[in-house]
Amino acid sequence: MALLYKADPVRGERWRALFAEQAPDIPWRAWPDIGDPREIRYLAAWQAPDNLLELLPNLQVLFALSAGVDQLDLGRLPEALPVVRLLDPGITRGMCEYASFAVLGLHRDMLRYRQQQAERRWQAHPLLPAHQRRVGIMGLGLQARQILATLQPYGFALSGWARSRHLIPDVDCFAGLEQLPAFLGQCDILLCVLPLTEQTQGILDRELFRHLPRGAALVNMGRGGHLVEQDLLDALASGQLSAAVLDVLQQEPAAPDHPFWQHPQIMLTPHIAAMTQPESAFAVLLDNIRRHQRGEPMLGQIDRQQGY
Ligand code: GLV
Repeated sequence: MALLYKADPVRGERWRALFAEQAPDIPWRAWPDIGDPREIRYLAAWQAPDNLLELLPNLQVLFALSAGVDQLDLGRLPEALPVVRLLDPGITRGMCEYASFAVLGLHRDMLRYRQQQAERRWQAHPLLPAHQRRVGIMGLGLQARQILATLQPYGFALSGWARSRHLIPDVDCFAGLEQLPAFLGQCDILLCVLPLTEQTQGILDRELFRHLPRGAALVNMGRGGHLVEQDLLDALASGQLSAAVLDVLQQEPAAPDHPFWQHPQIMLTPHIAAMTQPESAFAVLLDNIRRHQRGEPMLGQIDRQQGY
């Protein structure tokens, strides 16, 4: 019975130390030194190897080392294999920090001031009180709820949209595709933290931007696949959108000639909004392994029909 780790090798060393110290009964293997593949029961990975079950015939659970699981390409994985996403409080904290930074940065016009600094231009612009700034979040799962709670003390007018109906105190909640235009119509800053599925692929497109108030700003901290990149460029060029903060791209890393690099109205970061931290994630992963060993339900198990 062993666990195989297949992700960032530097953080792998921290994982290895935690397992050695706190769960020595679970032998640790790090990709590509997998030892006897028949001994591997658990795979902890960012991306799964091809021919998973041929390679690891006794695999019992695939643990994603991330909050999102689209990069595992669920359609290629055996139906019966449980896939569990990582509900790491460290990821949630990272998402809250990044969302605060992005929303405050957009609220306080930081992209514009950064550009003015480059031009040595000292010019103040009017300041909108936070309660007049309407911030809407797409996706109302665990991450979104914490983000909303983090933004609440600033006094922004908060709303959220999801496929199904949610009730969150002091947040205006919209549900389903029929309420999407009404939700968008009142978002000065739109944040996307949706899971990437067939339904949400390319959801941030021209049609969606058209429903936002003119001059709205976008924050994408979901997946690059949510955004139709050319539509964003067009919306910025026409003034329909004023700015975007993006942590994810269709193709990562961005090509050297990607138009977003130099765009004055886009702030681009290299998928760093949240990073799995072994120190906070270890307890969550180990708890799920113990649950599996006892035959109990694991926390964060993916619904294979829904894709998240
Ligand atoms: C990172 O992108 C994650 O899904 O955890």
